[in-house]
Amino acid sequence: MSAVTNTFENVKAVILSCHKGTTPKEKVDFYDTWAQNYDQDVAVLDYRAPSLAASRISSHFSGDRAAAAVLDVACGTGLVAKQLKRHGFGQFVGIDGSEAMLELARESGLYRDLKQSMLGEEPLPVQWADSFDVVLIVGALSVGQVPVGVVRELCKSAKPGGYVCMTTRGNRDNLEFKGALERELKQMEDEGLWSCVEVTEVKDWERAVSEQEDGYISGTVYLYKKLQL
Ligand SMILES: C[S@@+](CC[C@H](N)C(=O)[O-])C[C@H]1O[C@@H](n2cnc3c(N)ncnc32)[C@H](O)[C@@H]1O
Repeated sequence: MSAVTNTFENVKAVILSCHKGTTPKEKVDFYDTWAQNYDQDVAVLDYRAPSLAASRISSHFSGDRAAAAVLDVACGTGLVAKQLKRHGFGQFVGIDGSEAMLELARESGLYRDLKQSMLGEEPLPVQWADSFDVVLIVGALSVGQVPVGVVRELCKSAKPGGYVCMTTRGNRDNLEFKGALERELKQMEDEGLWSCVEVTEVKDWERAVSEQEDGYISGTVYLYKKLQL
């Protein structure tokens, strides 16, 4: 990681350069180039999604945290595991499409296993079905990144009674995606796959970088519990 903290204007320019690429593969290639500066740049954006998600899980999880198996989907450099560790969790498995982001997650020493995979194109490993006490996807369910359909795989990977925590952004260019995501979450609830524990709307999610918005954009943390069969 570079010792010099980037300015907000520079971080904004980096992110806007990525928005020109719209396919998931282009997004993951972008993360390969951004990986080394990712942690410090998202701190400049006041990106709080990992700590917000970790705190929502922590306030509901009543089992043995040190022994709980946690699947961190689109784990990036490991910011979510870092936050969950503060709450006593310690058994992390991560998956991400970007090898450069995964390399930093590996260096963090937080994960017992890490896997490279393009979500939405390759299914989660079948041996992960019904395996995890907590499954999270933070900062990656949004337009051009991880498609909505992947939430069914997250649910499959959770143990019956386990938690699935997801986040998405509420800014203008993500509203269509957010609507589709919420329809799918509801549909899965109607199918008896899980129940909604809570939905937390956060006004000051992270600093806005688009030309149409300023100040902070909003975001949402969704927490679901997989139903016992
Ligand atoms: C904003 S980062 C979030 C990383 C981490 N969860 C966090 O909150 O810091 C998004 C991550 O999703 C990954 N990603 C985006 N689209 C993906 C896809 N289709 N398949 C696999 N990984 C993807 C990127 O490589 C990146 O590491």
